[in-house]
Amino acid sequence: MAKNKSTQTTNESHRVATSDDIEVSTYLEIAQAGSEQPVAAREAIPEVEREAIVVIDFGSQYSMLITRRVRECQVYCEMVPYDTPWEEIAPLNPRGIIFSGGPASVYEPDAPLAPAYIYETGLPILGICYGMQVLTKQLGGRVTPGIKREYGHAMLHLSQIDSPLFAGLPDSTPVWMSHGDKIEGMPPGFSALAYTENSPNAVMGNDKGIFGLQFHPEVAHTPEGKAILKNFVFQICGCQGNWSMGNFIEDSIAGIKEQVGDGKVINALSGGVDSSVVATLIHRAVGDQLTCIFVNHGLLRREEVERTFNVFRLNLGMNIVYVDASERFPSRLEGVADPEVKRKIIGEEFIAVFEEEANKIGKVDFLAQGTLYPDVIESASSGSKAAAKIKTHHNVGGLPARMKLKLLEPLRALFKDEVRQVGLELGLPEDMVWRQPFPGPGLAIRIIGEVTGEKLEILRGADWIVMNEIKKAKLYRQLWQSFAVLTDVKSVGVMGDYRTYGYLVAVRAVTSDDAMTADWARLPYDLLAQISNRIVNEVPGVNRVVYDITSKPPSTIEWE
Ligand code: XMP
Repeated sequence: MAKNKSTQTTNESHRVATSDDIEVSTYLEIAQAGSEQPVAAREAIPEVEREAIVVIDFGSQYSMLITRRVRECQVYCEMVPYDTPWEEIAPLNPRGIIFSGGPASVYEPDAPLAPAYIYETGLPILGICYGMQVLTKQLGGRVTPGIKREYGHAMLHLSQIDSPLFAGLPDSTPVWMSHGDKIEGMPPGFSALAYTENSPNAVMGNDKGIFGLQFHPEVAHTPEGKAILKNFVFQICGCQGNWSMGNFIEDSIAGIKEQVGDGKVINALSGGVDSSVVATLIHRAVGDQLTCIFVNHGLLRREEVERTFNVFRLNLGMNIVYVDASERFPSRLEGVADPEVKRKIIGEEFIAVFEEEANKIGKVDFLAQGTLYPDVIESASSGSKAAAKIKTHHNVGGLPARMKLKLLEPLRALFKDEVRQVGLELGLPEDMVWRQPFPGPGLAIRIIGEVTGEKLEILRGADWIVMNEIKKAKLYRQLWQSFAVLTDVKSVGVMGDYRTYGYLVAVRAVTSDDAMTADWARLPYDLLAQISNRIVNEVPGVNRVVYDITSKPPSTIEWE
């Protein structure tokens, strides 16, 4: 590994020409940059006063977006289940509380409500949708079932324009509604601050800094939503705005040192930005106490194994172990079609492999993972008691109880774009930092139905073309993800003079900020045509290509 500064200036000549892929050159740059810390991370981080906004989660699919939006204001924000005790929240030094939306109705017998201590703290509160109904009920107002559900756009008209919540807002602005119940009578001391056609009390507030919004300010469909949240956080809660990735890195390295002590850590290296950032952070904290393990589970994309292995062997002086489990995983998936079962099997097998490697290495104490905040929250069992379960992400929900290693998850509180910022602050090159996410269970959840060797090869071929064309069109970085899915549909086609009966491949390309919501990308027709032509011509067994034009919600990004 090159440690000499001069190699950085002449790094073209030092490149190992494994492929022209952007990711490879990226990793080589990391390798050549040596283990010196980048300037940004060496700078002293000013001591800042801790402050936070706490989101009390009542189970809305949007709850985490609220957290996201608050952090975009440089204010640390954490989401906690609605029944979290004060002792767990107090160390964050909360300056304000936000009640999320949720699927329940406050008049149901076991509807989740806010703990009494929240009202006793005297902190400002912002209740959103269901959260507003919780406020209303608990503070003595009246909530009734709406005659019809209000869902979609509405025009909000401000009636008290001088409210600090509305600073800088126009008199009328579109908002996104999604509620059934409505506020019939506001609690004592509250007044209506704004209305929509269907909701006379669309915004309410009192003089103690408690506010309720009937609509969702956190979603993109409410264009002034972020301004409202910002007003709440700064004008009403008095936050300073001192949450930065520099602070995160310092805290995180100190935290890892403390947690690990003189223990040994293994890291599940996948080649993606998450595991690379995890590895870099941990390596910086505890150096050679970290061993990175790269598992080839046979469900990776074309050339991914070679690239990742070759590159990381040259990486920042970390110990890398390569495990070839490319037969083992697919054989356990034989005959399995159910997505959740696939995830469970892969998750279990992943842990088993790690246990085996841990045994070979000797005494290992921690398993590091690039688990992110959305993974934690979306695996509803671990994150939110009130949310409906969507998918089990193998890196959180699938961990079997038999695992004997402790988990080290330094990115657990971060959103994807925050991880990218951390990567940049750590000095990782931009190309690597902007690599599109790839799910832990790999191609297994992009093959609908049973995973077979033949289908894996077909999907690898199709996926390679999608990736190639998207990169050629210089759209790779703008898209959150772009990939092929192999459906289990076969259809009739014609090639030359012959009838064909082949697979249907779906192309998926989405834009997103954090994978919580996503929109299908409006790819140019010519690009879609080129992708389709190439797939049907170059990938045997495929005779039809469709483009997925659904957003998330109601779909998810992956098909399984
Ligand atoms: P969905 O399909 O739920 O995906 O909209 C959201 C994001 O998560 C990725 N994903 C996974 N990542 N293990 C992972 O590490 C998983 O089991 C998994 N399932 C989905 C997906 O690619 C998208 O970025």
